[in-house]
Amino acid sequence: MTNYNINVTLSETKKEKPHTDQLEFGKVFTDHMFIMDYTAGQGWHDPRIVPYQPIALDPASMIFHYGQSVFEGLKAYVTKNEQVLLFRPDQNFKRLNKSNERLCIPYIDEELALEALKQLIQIDREWIPTTEGTSLYIRPFIISTEPYLGVAPSGRYQFIIILSPVGSYYKEGIAPVKIAVESEFVRAVAGGTGTAKTGGNYAASLKAQQLSGERGYSQVLWLDGVERKYIEEVGSMNIFFKINGEVVTPSVNGSILEGITRKSIIQLLQHWNVPVTERRISMDEIKQAYLDGKLEEAFGTGTAAVISPIGELFWNNEAMIINHGQTGEVSKKLYDTLTGIQNGTVEDPFGWSVEV
Ligand code: COI
Repeated sequence: MTNYNINVTLSETKKEKPHTDQLEFGKVFTDHMFIMDYTAGQGWHDPRIVPYQPIALDPASMIFHYGQSVFEGLKAYVTKNEQVLLFRPDQNFKRLNKSNERLCIPYIDEELALEALKQLIQIDREWIPTTEGTSLYIRPFIISTEPYLGVAPSGRYQFIIILSPVGSYYKEGIAPVKIAVESEFVRAVAGGTGTAKTGGNYAASLKAQQLSGERGYSQVLWLDGVERKYIEEVGSMNIFFKINGEVVTPSVNGSILEGITRKSIIQLLQHWNVPVTERRISMDEIKQAYLDGKLEEAFGTGTAAVISPIGELFWNNEAMIINHGQTGEVSKKLYDTLTGIQNGTVEDPFGWSVEV
């Protein structure tokens, strides 16, 4: 492997670490961060690990005005033998570059990014929580920093990685969540930025999430932006249903995010010989399956959310209570296996885990 020259400046002080049994999602950050700059004509330069700190940006920086940014999310775990494992980190940096392509951001060197991440985690290793259900969440992101008010791709960027010890994404923990199907607002259409992991997609989702939150729902389930008929994804996760023994999930159609957890779940189900199909799924079909007693389970998948069982789906003024509001058998087995592979307690037949 190339020997990358990443400059390291260690923090003189260490922050107090949170109690791991009280961890929320994404509120506490470790002692260090990785940062690297891009300048047109020079490329990416000055990769460095520095004490975690605010970044100073010109108020005219393009990120503040036109939102040219991309991000990723992945997690690190410590095993019983004190190894530190990352889950499919190559996939995250590959997807970051796919998002870069869509947002006109220059590609990063994926190997350098992984090497930088490993070095950063080694430095902040004591921050990885070990209580069940916790992990070190990793947020790589790129922002456009050129001070310029014209609408154009920026000539300057910063690539940053920050780390956050986290507990469950949802306040429900791994208990089933309630999701409202969104019929008014849409998230994305094919040809838009739905497949990219870019901040604007999430900004556009807030209104619907806020309104559904006021009615007691954790997140919304987005329908397609053209016919408002076909299922796309949930706020921060992809969605799966088990209907009459078969697991189905919306196919990658040009507007949903290609989740790494989604892909891993499909591989796991195939490995177990559980029928799994990627296809177009309408809300009418889900309702019919529910009425016929064939809608056996529903769950979301994502790095932050892991496997999140869905106990209630609200659509057209009616609530569908799925599996009596309880976690289903397949959802539970997937959760146990995936988190087991991630934290090293279950054998990884796929070679997904990468040691730091
Ligand atoms: C993740 O699952 O890592 C995500 O990026 C979702 C995030 C918006 C919380």
